[in-house]
Amino acid sequence: MWSKSLRKVFPQTGGRACLSTSLPGEPCGPCVRTSVPGPKSKDLLHDLNQIQQAGSTSVFVNYDKSIGNYLVDVDGNTFLDTYMQISTIPLGYNHPELLKAFCNEHDLKCLINRPALGVFPGEDWPKRMSRICDMIAPCGMPHLNTMMCGACANENAFKHAFMAFRRKERGHDNFSKEEQESCIYNTPPGSPKLAIMSFLYGFHGRTLGTLSTTRSKFIQKIDIPAFDWPMANFPNYRYPLEENVECNKKEDEKCLARVEELFDSWCKKGMPVAGVIVEPIQSEGGDNHASPEFFKKLQVICKNNNAALIMDEVQTGGGPTGKFWCHEYFDLPCPPDIVTFSKKLQLGGYFYTGEMAVRQPFRTFNTWMGDPGKVILLEKVLEVIVRDDLLEHVRQTGEYVLKHLKDLETEFCPLFHSSRGRGTFIAFTAQTTEKRDEMIMLLKEKGVWCGSCGKSSIRLRASLLFQKKHANIFLDILRCVLQELKTC
Ligand SMILES: Cc1ncc(COP(=O)(O)O)c(C=O)c1O
Repeated sequence: MWSKSLRKVFPQTGGRACLSTSLPGEPCGPCVRTSVPGPKSKDLLHDLNQIQQAGSTSVFVNYDKSIGNYLVDVDGNTFLDTYMQISTIPLGYNHPELLKAFCNEHDLKCLINRPALGVFPGEDWPKRMSRICDMIAPCGMPHLNTMMCGACANENAFKHAFMAFRRKERGHDNFSKEEQESCIYNTPPGSPKLAIMSFLYGFHGRTLGTLSTTRSKFIQKIDIPAFDWPMANFPNYRYPLEENVECNKKEDEKCLARVEELFDSWCKKGMPVAGVIVEPIQSEGGDNHASPEFFKKLQVICKNNNAALIMDEVQTGGGPTGKFWCHEYFDLPCPPDIVTFSKKLQLGGYFYTGEMAVRQPFRTFNTWMGDPGKVILLEKVLEVIVRDDLLEHVRQTGEYVLKHLKDLETEFCPLFHSSRGRGTFIAFTAQTTEKRDEMIMLLKEKGVWCGSCGKSSIRLRASLLFQKKHANIFLDILRCVLQELKTC
């Protein structure tokens, strides 16, 4: 489903995809001179490790020299970056429009005088918010709360879902004295027993509430107490999709039946489900897709149970799938109740329907509630997306990459399979976890940065400016890696 403003701002069938030139100064290919990480990165890692557990650090980056689709590290290695800081850089490194973002003194002062937005917003804040809503609010979702990050957006989305559920139960907006007193002791009725349902392999953040809905890797959860909340199965499709229609349809039905069962059983045990959180494409958990029919039926089940459908578009939002919001592909008859975002949109937050709106202040509040500096960047990003018709560009580049990946899949069977994606939000699955890890290492050594996801998949999270010429470099290097793996 398209919002009127989205249709206006991002035409579906522009067909122009005019992007043909690189950003000025962008290298013509990767160049790796040292081992990865190189000696300078290793020294810096040693220093950082004295201060914090820095085991997740890959390389240290030279952000002055990184440009467009290329990341340059402190050892002078240049990588074609198809992962873009875990999918967060929409226009590549050092985009000229973003470099200009704070040239105007007013915007610079917004950046320096960071306000507590919930209490002291600047004069232009309502106008800025309204402009953002006009450009990107999903249809039927006129309300927007800005937050700091993805987990923070989801955490507050859960609170909205709980509050809306209780308001419907009460039938009014007032709290009893007993509710006001009991919540201080974390006991009902003020602190009610309510649940958020999520899906196996879903990822929704690492803060305490969201972590109870995150179900991808043990290392993210172990030793942390969790809410006793239900978990359903997300469809696990067979590929290629066109050859497995019937069995994938049965998979949808099985998963949806389980969702319904969980609604019933959690209600019976006195902890009704107030919301269901789901990614339009499970990302961290393995780039697992589900059909539009799955999402449509999931929405119906949520509605039947008075529960909010929370679409977590933290990773998919902002254009990488070729639509601004991935859930637009599902043609839902009515909007989801809440759509959360972060990453490519530069700050966290969520859009929500009137029904989800909270009536009293200070219920979803924190000191900063986002950052006008990031909103200024977001405005620039949106201008470039529209100016350069980037959604159409992403759709065309994505089709090109996927077609060539499928060819490689056949040529190098069984080294990898299940190439899948929307736009350039693409992944494929290696024969084993070990082979996947080796592929990623060899790609890196040859100058291509990719991400891993799930048990044995590789994901691309390129910038919106990733072009066919970048795709060709990626595909050529992937071919070399596959040749190497085939012969060893
Ligand atoms: C789908 C999804 N939701 C939520 C999050 C959490 O976002 P953040 O890391 O900004 O807290 C992520 C992060 O990768 C994500 O991919």
